[in-house]
Amino acid sequence: MKMLVVFYSRTGNTRKVAEELEKVLECDMEEIIDTKNRSGSLGYLRSGRDAMNRKLTVLQDVINDPSSYDLIVIGTPLWAGHVSTPVRTYMHQNQASFKNVAFFCTAGGMGFEGTFKDMKELSGKTPLATLGLREKELKSASYKSKVAEFAQEIQMK
Ligand SMILES: Cc1cc2nc3c(=O)[nH]c(=O)nc-3n(C[C@H](O)[C@H](O)[C@H](O)COP(=O)(O)O)c2cc1C
Repeated sequence: MKMLVVFYSRTGNTRKVAEELEKVLECDMEEIIDTKNRSGSLGYLRSGRDAMNRKLTVLQDVINDPSSYDLIVIGTPLWAGHVSTPVRTYMHQNQASFKNVAFFCTAGGMGFEGTFKDMKELSGKTPLATLGLREKELKSASYKSKVAEFAQEIQMK
């Protein structure tokens, strides 16, 4: 199964999970890059507002064509209870190219289900597997076993 891990990360947490997944699944990886400045406290506020209002943004061109993969594993940070705006935009733009999907999300606390619901609607597909990780878990190496379980679940399907 040809797989692509696609992710957006504002502050590195989701990137950390994506990099571990890339290693475990031995697959390609694509980082979604937003053209909108989301740094600092103003960027934080703007991002929360954009996510709540289900806004789209302008992304840099992607490198990998999602239609050439059997599975797209999509990772997002949780923003105001929703999928992040750059990932919403990627999914909106590429939905027709997805054959199979799996989702992962990082968050300060809880609320993964709302994000996965957004992602399910945006992809029009039921994910093969989902993984939610809290910031606290990412601070120790224990998240790696959850990533390994997630990867195994994907590979069994
Ligand atoms: C705009 C914004 C809104 C957020 N909203 C939530 C939230 O509703 N619930 C939560 O648990 N964490 C929330 N967070 C925290 C992020 O989900 C968390 O820090 C995540 O791991 C960041 O991933 P990243 O480092 O890949 O950007 C929010 C962060 C930002 C920037």
